[in-house]
Amino acid sequence: MAVIKRAVAVAVLLSGASALPRQTKPYVKRQDLPPADERAQGVVDTFRTAWEGYYQYAFPNDELKPVTNGFSNSRNQWGASAVDALSTALVMQQKDIVNQIIDYIPTIDYYETPSEVSLFETTIRYLAGMISGYDFLSGPLADLADNKTNVDALLEQSKNLANALSYAFDTPSGVPYNNLDFSTRSNDGSNNGLATVGTLVLEWVRLADLTGNTTYGELAEKGESYLLNPKPASSEPWPGLVGSSIDPKTGEFTDASGGWTGGTDSFYEYLIKMYVYDPTRYSTYLDRWVLAVDSSIAHLASHPTPRPDITWLAIYNGQNITKISQHLACFDGGNFILGGQVMGKQEYIDFGLELVNGCHETYIQTATRIGPETFGWDDASVPTNQSAFFNKTGFYIRDGGYQLRPEVIESYYYAYRATGDEKYQEWAWDAFTAINATTRVGSGYSSISNVNVAGGGGFTDFQESFWFAEVLKYSYLIHAPEAEWQVGKDGKNAWVFNTEAHPFKVFGGDES
Ligand SMILES: *[C@@H]1O[C@H](CO)[C@@H](O)[C@H](O)[C@H]1NC(C)=O
Ligand SMILES: *[C@@H]1O[C@H](CO)[C@@H](O)[C@H](O)[C@H]1NC(C)=O
Ligand SMILES: *[C@@H]1O[C@H](CO)[C@@H](O)[C@H](O)[C@H]1NC(C)=O
Ligand SMILES: *[C@@H]1O[C@H](CO)[C@@H](O)[C@H](O)[C@H]1NC(C)=O
Ligand SMILES: *[C@@H]1O[C@H](CO)[C@@H](O)[C@H](O)[C@H]1NC(C)=O
Ligand SMILES: *[C@@H]1O[C@H](CO)[C@@H](O)[C@H](O)[C@H]1NC(C)=O
Repeated sequence: MAVIKRAVAVAVLLSGASALPRQTKPYVKRQDLPPADERAQGVVDTFRTAWEGYYQYAFPNDELKPVTNGFSNSRNQWGASAVDALSTALVMQQKDIVNQIIDYIPTIDYYETPSEVSLFETTIRYLAGMISGYDFLSGPLADLADNKTNVDALLEQSKNLANALSYAFDTPSGVPYNNLDFSTRSNDGSNNGLATVGTLVLEWVRLADLTGNTTYGELAEKGESYLLNPKPASSEPWPGLVGSSIDPKTGEFTDASGGWTGGTDSFYEYLIKMYVYDPTRYSTYLDRWVLAVDSSIAHLASHPTPRPDITWLAIYNGQNITKISQHLACFDGGNFILGGQVMGKQEYIDFGLELVNGCHETYIQTATRIGPETFGWDDASVPTNQSAFFNKTGFYIRDGGYQLRPEVIESYYYAYRATGDEKYQEWAWDAFTAINATTRVGSGYSSISNVNVAGGGGFTDFQESFWFAEVLKYSYLIHAPEAEWQVGKDGKNAWVFNTEAHPFKVFGGDES
């Protein structure tokens, strides 16, 4: 998922891509790895612990503060953790929790909130969580709902929420404003971002297809159209790779900086996912994804000097690249693999696996075996006290926090589904057990401040809603039995995951 952070704008000219080396280290299966069913159950146990802490001390507020047994409302006080947890409780078939959540959702008043509303965050968490719940409970997991009225309410509440949000698109260009004040039906007037505009279309189109109200899809597609045909030309430094800021008054980009990091990331993610959702309607999205991926391989792929075996994607400003990346960007490997599988292009799968390996390195080299929020690999910018670390690992840590993010495990999941190689299950189990051991505190799990000191350097006393939606879902699915909602092994997908890991049924043509 993409939590929006301002794109890091750095104007330093650095060298670009070089040829990819091959992985040579042989993989040796670990003897102490528990069987898959025990691994899956271990993740379910953690999910239940986190849910019970939240339900006891925070529900129906947005998040649990596990250290102090308090709560917070960073997402409009509509119960973010509950709505975000629904599709994970469903795939884990935790019937009691599913019914606690769907009993609650009909009581939410989406027209009222004490705080500013983010169109993007509200779409990917609340709208997507309810749509996914509806797809499961009106489909293959219908038996888990005790009350059928609550299932219909998921779609009704999705319509209510989208109707409350839809004035955001009422701008001169049709590019929405992101930051909304519901009490005055106004916005903050600021430019919108690439990810915040470009990560709506899957949710709003799915809602249109389920309800028959085509307006939802048309609104999101209109905003997206400016991203698919970027203006001015200077905002597209290489084919398919675009800037990060868009003016809703004109629909034009105001810069040429970006990458696969926070603030721009999930725009690229959704180009291929729209094609997976409906290849008939969204073939031009595929074309744009291919351009972006080819340009990324040609111009952003970068190998640290001390570790030429590792590949990460750099960020750019115009055609200048900067050797910085983030935990958030680590969804990239999984996204390349998904597209490679869907298109039958082994080259994209192989490159995606290189990126997965690069993110794995950021995990296994730290004291906690969890990767940092932001890292760099520019020879000229290595902090003196990280020189030895850099020489060994190929990166230095710029921000050592870990905010219960999923992207590294998410990419292990796609790598495992595509290759069937148990190595990726082992990597996911390693990451999960490290996270479970380091972030467990009080009544739940908390973000930590420093992955490179034993114990994590202190708790921030905050349990993110995407801990439920994403980390625990991908950590579970990689060890879980075959099911129609698992990512396809062969490029054929019956479901597609939104950027918050909420699975939607792909378009069938008979939904409403
Ligand atoms: C997760 O952490 C809890 C508490 O420390 C522990 O009891 C449990 O065994 C851990 N689970 C796994 C799978 O490591
Ligand atoms: C089923 O859910 C609806 C809507 O939440 C509620 O009004 C109704 O009382 C519930 N029925 C039962 C039997 O719990
Ligand atoms: C369809 O959705 C739009 C956008 O939210 C809304 O204004 C309109 O009332 C909806 N139409 C119907 C028939 O519900
Ligand atoms: C790129 O780097 C060159 C050389 O340092 C500089 O002149 C130019 O302004 C930079 N471009 C951007 C968009 O930062
Ligand atoms: C390295 O030095 C910086 C700046 O003095 C300091 O903030 C940081 O804690 C040091 N890091 C380590 C790993 O010692
Ligand atoms: C790291 O490698 C560089 C380049 O080889 C060298 O100058 C530097 O002294 C090394 N740092 C440490 C701490 O060994």
